[in-house]
Amino acid sequence: MKTRNHNNVSNRVYKRVSRVPGFPIVRLRRLRKSAAVRTLFQETHLSVTDLICPIFVEEGISKPRPIESMPEIQRMPLSSLVSTMEEIRRTGIKAVILFGIPSLKERNARSAYDERGIVQQSVELLRKHFSDTIVIITDVCLCQYTTEGHCGILLNKKIDNDKSIRIIAKVALSHARSGSDIVAPSAMMDGQVAAIRASLDRNGFGDIAIMGYSAKHASQMYAPFRDASHSRPKVGDRKTYQMPYTNSREALREIQEDISEGVDIVMIKPALPNLDLIYQARKHTNLPVCAYSVSGEYALVKAASQEGWVDEESIITELLTSIKRAGADMMISYHALKMARILNTANK
Ligand code: PBG
Ligand code: ZN
Repeated sequence: MKTRNHNNVSNRVYKRVSRVPGFPIVRLRRLRKSAAVRTLFQETHLSVTDLICPIFVEEGISKPRPIESMPEIQRMPLSSLVSTMEEIRRTGIKAVILFGIPSLKERNARSAYDERGIVQQSVELLRKHFSDTIVIITDVCLCQYTTEGHCGILLNKKIDNDKSIRIIAKVALSHARSGSDIVAPSAMMDGQVAAIRASLDRNGFGDIAIMGYSAKHASQMYAPFRDASHSRPKVGDRKTYQMPYTNSREALREIQEDISEGVDIVMIKPALPNLDLIYQARKHTNLPVCAYSVSGEYALVKAASQEGWVDEESIITELLTSIKRAGADMMISYHALKMARILNTANK
């Protein structure tokens, strides 16, 4: 068989190695020679504007409170919100997602759609201070607001799907009224996107977008979040509504269903255990795909970093860049502030 010297190796070397079985050697290392060379061939670039920063706002506290299982993340009182947002803005991040922690929990989650509720007041305040220079996303769910801590309303110990989506639609509408740009329903109730879209449109909020927590898995990865937001279910678990992590075809059905119901952005959650689904979602739809790197993903990295077992900056850069490489256009991460600062320093 005639072989040709594709590899620009000297003829002397070529003659020698061409006798090695498996030759010709493909020289991939050429493009990794130096940092400058590697930069030229870097395929995926994480940018500050890909990042969405989560904020917890809690009713009835006067100072920021730490969250034990989420080091460096705090629950904010309303009075710290503007300075927190200013800090976020200084890094170049423009989008935040708000989670409310109300002081009152009720069977029917009434404080979730109260126009003076904690999220509604937060959105109003941020909108007033920052007008249209920031993107305000609000998590729409009932679990922080119900006595039982479920994402839907319980009726005879069962989640009543259709009653739940009516309330979820009210919550989304109240967020839109306060000035939210994007509402993000996370309850995994069937028909929630359609119910929200209909209610927004009926009330003149046709320009408010919906980010669906489309494929949201029942996951141990949410444990720190539930500590933070006091939303652990009192009885049972979330497995009758959140997806089993064993299933990917079902995840695509969830995504497809949200698309049919009029969602504007699809989201996959958690992110790192589901890079395959992020990849598939990206292939499946031309809608923007968001990945939510959740509290447990944050806690794992934080714990190992604090022990000195991994280098925090390197690991979060690697993990978040990999989420983007898998196909996410944007991501929610508790590392957002730190990540933005790393990117800003690297680009100086
Ligand atoms: C509320 C909600 C949860 C998360 C986002 N919205 C918790 C849950 O479903 O139990 C999890 C976020 C995280 O872990 O960071 N439904
Ligand atoms: Zn919920």
